[in-house]
Formats: sequence, structure tokens, C-alpha cells
Amino acid sequence: MRFSGKRAVVTGGASGIGRATALRLADEGASVLIGDIDEAGGQALADASGSRIQFQRTDVLQAGDIEALMQAADDAGGLDIVFNNAGAGGSRDPIGEISPEDWDRTQALLLRSVALGIRYAAPLMAKRGGGAIVNTSSVSALGTGYAPTAYSTAKAGVLHLTKQAAADLARHAIRVNAVVPGFIVTNIFTRMLDLDAAKTSKADAMIAHIAADAQPIRRPGTGDDIAAAVAFLASDDASFITGTHILVDGGMTIGTRPSWDPAQPSLFSILDSLK
Ligand SMILES: NC(=O)c1ccc[n+]([C@@H]2O[C@H](COP(=O)([O-])OP(=O)(O)OC[C@H]3O[C@@H](n4cnc5c(N)ncnc54)[C@H](O)[C@@H]3O)[C@@H](O)[C@H]2O)c1
Repeated sequence: MRFSGKRAVVTGGASGIGRATALRLADEGASVLIGDIDEAGGQALADASGSRIQFQRTDVLQAGDIEALMQAADDAGGLDIVFNNAGAGGSRDPIGEISPEDWDRTQALLLRSVALGIRYAAPLMAKRGGGAIVNTSSVSALGTGYAPTAYSTAKAGVLHLTKQAAADLARHAIRVNAVVPGFIVTNIFTRMLDLDAAKTSKADAMIAHIAADAQPIRRPGTGDDIAAAVAFLASDDASFITGTHILVDGGMTIGTRPSWDPAQPSLFSILDSLK
């Protein structure tokens, strides 16, 4: 019960990583306010939670919605923890083709939303004597080939924003960290496609299969894997940790595939075949 008496805000809390984290924080004693554009999903989670989780419709593209979400938590008794997590895939266009509008929209969804989440949470936490903020980045912030260009660039921005904000806010006893998920099985992938129910369920099966084989740890990553890291960063167990990130990727980024997958030929296994 690391969060007894604490109040947390989770954006994107109606689904996937945000949903798992809202449940984890609530299970450990927090009162959780989730903000999401998915009213049915958000309200259903709140209704099933026995009043541990509340829902407020929030579009993180709207500064006023983010400010109102943070203020609602403060009005309910004070804001201690914020998980800036809402997001989607954004534009998949390559840099040589993307429109200015699509670029801006993706950055606004994935980077500006996090900046504004911090912006509006910080004064409320400061007057309370401190707090903990966790932001969702991605392995796509660390290298190419994981996600589209606009998305990956925004997620890299989230990592640097995390450091800058940690430096700015340490004087107010506010810690700011990020979580860096690898391939996590959520609805984010099928949301990017316009599929009917039958095709969505086929796509879900394909995603689960691919996710189990995408990294050295041979099982699909789950929202609970990310929630555990977020809960740690948000808790007093991490009271001397700020301005950094935890990579939760099953080892996906440790090296090239032949280094960890015996089925993949390495340079030397190819050359050895000449002997
Ligand atoms: N799933 C992965 O493999 C993965 C990997 C790295 C990072 N991430 C990041 O994790 C975060 C959560 O994604 P997820 O995988 O749980 O996906 P998800 O689709 O299951 O959940 C995302 C949630 O964000 C909400 N959302 C989308 N746009 C919003 C908006 N404008 N305002 C408010 N809410 C909005 C959605 O309604 C949804 O409930 C995202 O920032 C995503 O980029 C996911």
C-alpha cells in the first residue's frame, strides 16, 4: 500500500498501459483520476473500481482539458502523482512526405501533451510540498526501426523534457522520470487501422504472436509490466531518483538479434560455414 492517502492522475487511463497503471496505483491505495477521450472505457473502469478510480473526459490535445484534469485532482484533496501517458501512433508518413499539419498533430498528441501535463501539475504539487511525475516514452526514442518518424521524434522529446523538467522542479521536491516501454500488447496497434471486429481479432492474434518473439525475453510485454515500473518511480522507493528513465522492453534494445537469438545467423556462424 505504497500510495495510501495519495491522489494520482493517469492520462490515457481507459486502455492498455494507462489502465493497468491506474489499477496498480489503486490496488496500492491511491485515489486515481483517469483522463481519456474514450468515455465508455474510462467510465466502465471507474464504475468497476468501487470508487477507487474516477473518470474525467480529457482530450490531451486541449490545454484546457489537461489543466481541468489536474485541477479536479487538486480540488478533491491534492495532487501527488501524475502519469502523462495518453497517446496513439500518430502519422505514419515518412519525413519526405508528411504534411506540416500531420507533423504538428503528432507532436501535440505525444510531446506537447506531456509538457502541458507537467506544466499544470507542477504548481499544484509545489504548493503541496512535492510530488512525482512519470512520462511515457518508447524504445523508438532510442533508435530507428521501432515506430514511425514523427512518433519516435516526439518520444525522444519526452525523454529530454523529462530531464529538463526534473532539473526545473527539483527545488519544489517534484521528481520527474520516464518509462520506456518496448513492444507491449495493447490496442494501440489495431487503433491505427480501420478494421472490422473479425479482422481486429485476427490482428490481435498476430500481434500477440509477434510480440512473444520480438525480444530476448520470450513472452509478450503487458501493461502490467509497465505499471510495475511506473508504480516504483511514483513511489517513495524511488525518492532519490529523478530525471531518468526505466527501460521495460524485455531486452529488445540490448543488441542486434543474432546476439540473443540462436536461430539467427551471426557473422561468425556464416563464416564458420566456409570452414
Ligand atoms: N503499446 C506499446 O507497445 C507502446 C510502446 C511504447 C510506448 N507506448 C506508449 O504508451 C502509451 C499508452 O499506449 P497504449 O499502448 O496503452 O495504447 P492504448 O491505445 O491501449 O491506450 C492509449 C489510451 O490513450 C487514449 N488517448 C488517445 N488519444 C488521446 C487524447 N487525445 N486525449 C486523451 N486520451 C487519448 C486512448 O483513448 C487510450 O485509452 C502511449 O503514449 C504510447 O505511445 C506504447
